[in-house]
Amino acid sequence: MTVPTPFGVRIAGTGSSVPDGVLTNADLESMVDTSDEWIVKRTGIRERRICDRAAGEGAFGLECDAIRKALDAAEMDPGELDLLIVGSLTSEMRCPSNACRISEAIGAAPAGAFDLNAACCGYVYSLNIAESLIRSGRHRAIGVIGCDVLSPYIDYEERTVSILFGDAAGAAVLVRDDEHPERGCIYQKIEANGSGWESLYMPRREEDIPPNAPPTEVRLGNLRMNGREVYKFAVKKFQEVIEDALESTGLGVDDISQFICHQSNIRIIQSAKEKIGLPDEKVYINIDKYGNSSAGSVALCLDQVTRAGKINPGDHVVIVAFGAGMTWASSVWKM
Ligand code: UT7
Repeated sequence: MTVPTPFGVRIAGTGSSVPDGVLTNADLESMVDTSDEWIVKRTGIRERRICDRAAGEGAFGLECDAIRKALDAAEMDPGELDLLIVGSLTSEMRCPSNACRISEAIGAAPAGAFDLNAACCGYVYSLNIAESLIRSGRHRAIGVIGCDVLSPYIDYEERTVSILFGDAAGAAVLVRDDEHPERGCIYQKIEANGSGWESLYMPRREEDIPPNAPPTEVRLGNLRMNGREVYKFAVKKFQEVIEDALESTGLGVDDISQFICHQSNIRIIQSAKEKIGLPDEKVYINIDKYGNSSAGSVALCLDQVTRAGKINPGDHVVIVAFGAGMTWASSVWKM
């Protein structure tokens, strides 16, 4: 639980950005041995957005666009940010971080800037850390971006991974709120367990591949996944983290206005909905249009839900994600 402070934290603005390129299930039918019917039934995905690398599209461009929109929504100047955190595993370069380049591009320098890799949990980890830094009194305004452009790391000749992922970015600007100490993240969890890492990984070299790894046609450098293992982990973990968030805060489902969940597979979200008893209108779904955009997923959802007017000041919102690592995270907000 958050230790009370004489000030709160407010999400002053959100933004998001997706590429124009659409990869439909029909497109995939012509690329791999799959069908629209199988993909919709097993995942809920109908289409996803994909960057056009030849046209120079990538994570950096989407991230700049998303944070600029978030700053516009907050009616803030980039120079007011004192820190920028980018949750992503797909920054264009290992060095420097995309955060440093974005800070310079939008005019936020000399704000501190770093990338954070927690796979699909990158945005929720970053959001929690940013909120905690403002609570500490050391920072006043932090830009948080969640983005992944996994399309360059997907083997589009292999059917299990290629159907799932899309590219997207979302951003939020968090500010210290001296008027409303009750606002902000009231409970958060960031956790990980590396024991199942080989269920979802991106080996660069032969040495990275564990000796017991099942044979695969996925090329080195691309994302490899044991779908069934990830699925089992996710179904259990989603239920656990949502129940933990409710029990720890003493809030009931009726007290929450929105549950914002990582869009990994519609069946994973449905399972948590059924087991916990979450009503349809409180669980935002956009996986049909965007697929799983990894660290971009929750960030995109939060922006879309906010712009749709589904979150009002004073509302409680539960945000949850899980991802490679394995990682998982929750964030309960009083908006
Ligand atoms: O952010 C975290 C990232 N990852 C995830 O969240 C993934 C979690 N896992 C999943 O979403 C699901 O496991 C998948 C969607 C990846 C797969 O669905 P599934 O219901 O677990 O399918 P399965 O792996 O058990 O395979 C069932 C059948 C198999 O055929 P047989 O052995 O029954 O003949 C597969 O070969 O479906 C086959 N299959 C496909 N068929 C058509 C697997 N992929 C495809 C495909 N199209 N794309």
